[in-house]
Amino acid sequence: MTSSLRERYVLAIDQGTTSTRCILFDRRATVVAVARAEHPQSYPRPGWVEHDAARIWRDTQRLIKRAIREAGIESSQVAAIGIANQRETAVVWDRETGVPVAPAINWQDTRTAAFVETLDAAFVQERTGLPPATYFSAGKVKWLLDNVPGLRARAEKGEVLFGTMDSWLIWNLTGRRHHLTDVTNASRTMLMDLTKLAWDPALLDVCTIPQAMLPEIRSSSEIYGTAEAVLPGVPIAAAIGDQQAALFGQTCFAPGDAKCTYGTGGFLLMNTGSTPVRSTHGLLTTVGYRIGSEPVAYALEGSIAIAGSLVQWVRDGLGLIATASEIETLAGTVTDNGGCYIVPAFSGLFAPHWRSEARGVIVGLTSYITKGHLARAVLEATGWQTREVVDAMNADSGLALTGLNVDGGMTADNMLMQIVADVLEVPVVRPMVAETVSLGAAYAAGLAVGYWSDLQDLRNNRHRAGRWLPAMNDERRATEYRKWKRAVDCAVLFST
Ligand code: G3P
Repeated sequence: MTSSLRERYVLAIDQGTTSTRCILFDRRATVVAVARAEHPQSYPRPGWVEHDAARIWRDTQRLIKRAIREAGIESSQVAAIGIANQRETAVVWDRETGVPVAPAINWQDTRTAAFVETLDAAFVQERTGLPPATYFSAGKVKWLLDNVPGLRARAEKGEVLFGTMDSWLIWNLTGRRHHLTDVTNASRTMLMDLTKLAWDPALLDVCTIPQAMLPEIRSSSEIYGTAEAVLPGVPIAAAIGDQQAALFGQTCFAPGDAKCTYGTGGFLLMNTGSTPVRSTHGLLTTVGYRIGSEPVAYALEGSIAIAGSLVQWVRDGLGLIATASEIETLAGTVTDNGGCYIVPAFSGLFAPHWRSEARGVIVGLTSYITKGHLARAVLEATGWQTREVVDAMNADSGLALTGLNVDGGMTADNMLMQIVADVLEVPVVRPMVAETVSLGAAYAAGLAVGYWSDLQDLRNNRHRAGRWLPAMNDERRATEYRKWKRAVDCAVLFST
């Protein structure tokens, strides 16, 4: 049989904070094969978080081949590749050798706090839709230019390139031919004008970043080139920040549609249509997606820095559990939090507070508290952080959220999903395909090559797998929320 008669698939690469995944999807959005590898997190100093970009590229090549092998298909059956990626993480590499000049500075890294404080918040927010924060790429690139000997001069001559993980992978996959990024990733650098969708010269000036090192900004869904380095001839047809990919994978195509992804952090995005909505309640205005030359869909985003990574810390840092899923079992040994609250401000507090200097606290400790209560407080922390961003979203949009679509690894935890429904007081819905980040990247790539014909084609693939209804009484919810807010005040008080 020739490959044109064989079934074809779309390959999604989800280059996330803790792991890289390659997933093959068929036309019905069924997962046909998954290959996954975790990569190390490096914490060289308090507040610093780094990744090895060369290792991530090696993992990606291996995982692409493994996914294809496991599916038992030929590479000619891959119709397109779509990339979703952890956003903001900054890589700078040598254009000639392809070697990164330093470890990638991760989105959670707070080393740029002093620089960020010097920025004019109103100016930055007006241009980019973002409040100045250590979270975004600009300060990280500046830090590398200021601290890696000789780097600034080389950047000015165009000898080194900057990119987020999408750019890094596309440059490598295309055999070092194309240096580009998509508009969603560019919107997280704090260097892009949100309405012009172009690098902003004034911001480049303030951040002292030479334009020569920046990638070209393209849409999220178009053919950028072919994956000569791994799958010759196969088009790379999408790049999209992972949280925007989840919005797309959840088919949140209409203004008002929202989703929350629970991975390392938690990210609630609402599609606001073709006009950017400026937040006055601590949310980000960002690009949701752009399909080819169609108008951009903007989004409001509530970013929670620490969600799943708190569970990871309980596992790896404290050793209280052996696997992440044990948190639910441990939390199930008690009926409530015993008066204990954990605010995981490990990278400061993100939305809606934006306090880079805040640090994590555990409050309400008495001799009564057991590890079960701590586990419960860990899950509740994700619930209350979600509540804070939903309150901000409701205030900014003038609409009350009537339900929440969720996805991501943590949604396998039924107790957490019940907590989220309880504290939000709205139903929580999980779709059949939990890998919505990968699915969104696959959808964007598939649309670009005609594998799927239109958005309705994608909507038809959506099926519900789980639903949780609020069951907490109003008085308890109000009391608990008040106590949570006092715990947040403690995290801000206990700042660096
Ligand atoms: O903005 C950071 C976000 O893109 C990271 O997502 O799923 O890799 O933790 P994740």
